[in-house]
Amino acid sequence: MEISYKNLNSRRVAVFISGRGSNLKAMLNNEKNRILNGEISFIYSNEKNALGLNYAKKFNKDFESFPYKKKNEGHLLRILKAKNIDIIALAGFMKILSSHFIAKFKGLIVNIHPALLPSFPGLNAQKQAYDYGTKISGVTVHFVDNDLDGGIIIKQRAINIENCGNADAVTKKILRLEHKIYTEALNILLTKKWHIEGRHFIYE
Ligand code: GRF
Repeated sequence: MEISYKNLNSRRVAVFISGRGSNLKAMLNNEKNRILNGEISFIYSNEKNALGLNYAKKFNKDFESFPYKKKNEGHLLRILKAKNIDIIALAGFMKILSSHFIAKFKGLIVNIHPALLPSFPGLNAQKQAYDYGTKISGVTVHFVDNDLDGGIIIKQRAINIENCGNADAVTKKILRLEHKIYTEALNILLTKKWHIEGRHFIYE
C-alpha cells in the first residue's frame, strides 16, 4: 500500500506500550502543552501491570490492556477503527505485530528505536552500541513493516556517547532524546505534506 499524508484524516494517535511508558508520558505532556499537533486518543498495553498505564489514568485517556494474541487482534483492530485512529505509535511495546495486524490496520504504524538504525536493531540497542564501542549513537523513528526494526526511517538524531562510561548512561542520554524526537516525528507525520520514494521519507 502506498502511504502518504493523504492517509490521515483524524490526527488521532494510539500509543501501544508494555512497560514503564516514559515516552508515552512525554507525548501526553507534549499534547497537554500543545507541542504535539495531534490527539492521543487511545492507549493499549499488552501487560495489565504496565507502569505506563498510570499515565493513561492520570491524563484521563481511554485505555485497554489485554494480551497481544492472535485471538485478540480482531478486537484490537475494531477498537482502533471505532476510535478513528490514524497512527499507532509503538513506545516500548515488546510484542512483534503480526503481518496480519499490520496489513489490516488502516493507518500508519511507527516505532521508536534507541539506536541509529540499521545499526543495532533488536533488544538492548543502547548496550549493543556501548559494547561495540561506537562513539555515536542516537534515536530512530521509523515505520513498522514486517522486518524487525527495518521499516522506512522518518527521523533520526545522533548523539555523542563517547564519554558515557557505561551502558546505563548511554540509555539515559538516549532516552532524553527519545522524549523529544518522538513528538517531532509525529508532528511531521501529522502536519506536513510527505510521501515515500523508495526507502526515502520526504516532506515539504
Ligand atoms: C525506549 O528506549 C524505546 O526506544 C524502546 O523501549 C524503551 C521504552 O521506554 N523501544 P518507555 O517505556 O517509553 O519508558
